[in-house]
Amino acid sequence: MVTCSAPGKTHLIGEHSVVYGEPAIIISVGKRAYVSAEKAESVKIYAHDINESGVFSISELKEFAETLQQLWANCFETKNFVPLYSLLKNEHLGHIKAMIAKTMAELDINAPFSLKISSELPIGSGLGSSAALSVAVPKALSELFKNTLTLDEINQVAYKIESLAHGTPSGGDNSICCYGGALWFKKGTPNIIEPLHLDFTLKNFVLVFTRIPQLTTGELVSNVRSLDPEYRDLRVNQLGMYTYEMRECLAKQDFTRMKELMNLAQELLAELGVSIDAIDRIHTAVKEINGGAKLSGAGGGGYMVCYHEDLQLLEQTIKKLGYVPEQVELGVEGVRTERK
Ligand code: MEV
Repeated sequence: MVTCSAPGKTHLIGEHSVVYGEPAIIISVGKRAYVSAEKAESVKIYAHDINESGVFSISELKEFAETLQQLWANCFETKNFVPLYSLLKNEHLGHIKAMIAKTMAELDINAPFSLKISSELPIGSGLGSSAALSVAVPKALSELFKNTLTLDEINQVAYKIESLAHGTPSGGDNSICCYGGALWFKKGTPNIIEPLHLDFTLKNFVLVFTRIPQLTTGELVSNVRSLDPEYRDLRVNQLGMYTYEMRECLAKQDFTRMKELMNLAQELLAELGVSIDAIDRIHTAVKEINGGAKLSGAGGGGYMVCYHEDLQLLEQTIKKLGYVPEQVELGVEGVRTERK
């Protein structure tokens, strides 16, 4: 039996604008997704957190991978990913089955195995639950079948898996879950992926869960894409400029400007339509005490990332609004083998 894990992530800045080629600063979080794999008689999947299981034949999974790929290409052509998302939603264990089928196709796996998935990352909450699995599944299967992949190869498979789940993701989420630490990520040919050495303390950040988003990452990204291009691009470019400035701030340890940039990014994300009332309320309250607070990831609810030098004051402010500040380790190791 092989067990592999990958961490979740939080966006310090740059979500959504990263889809349009602007940079993002993304940090891994100390909550992980775990995948255990062992050889078996047929392909068996058990998703511990939702207590769902399924048994599939190899040919069925190969066919599913081909169907998904074809559908993705059609959706890309028509710029409408709804048919792909519907298929995944309506299929039993759709997303997980897609991850496994795609991994088998990419790694040319033709032998059966059983796979158990469990995660500390709440599903669809902006903490990279799907990206962490899209990295941990190919890692576990490559270890099981002794086809050990490099981190870059795992990341490439993970990006293909993420594309099936989210249409046209930037690739930032799977990259941080793969490499860990903190990353400067810019989509391109090739992507720019640089580790950031945040040698200041990451201890004054807290994460705050607002609510389960009603829309998926793919749907939220599509909503932003369907905004008036002039209105959207103005905000996307501004988010890009703030992200470049954030990098300088981090290097200088200028926390005052870092907090301002977090707040400015939140206000632009709200203008792009991906915030909700709860996020706006927490953002306003944290800003009033001179802290920084923004949504993290696709938005529509999910987690926020907040910062203040006075952690106690930050926590009190968030608790007063009825939310729970979570101190989570940041900048943790990327995908890894737990047990062999
Ligand atoms: C989602 O975690 C981050 C987005 O920027 C989408 C992406 O980067 O693919 C909203």
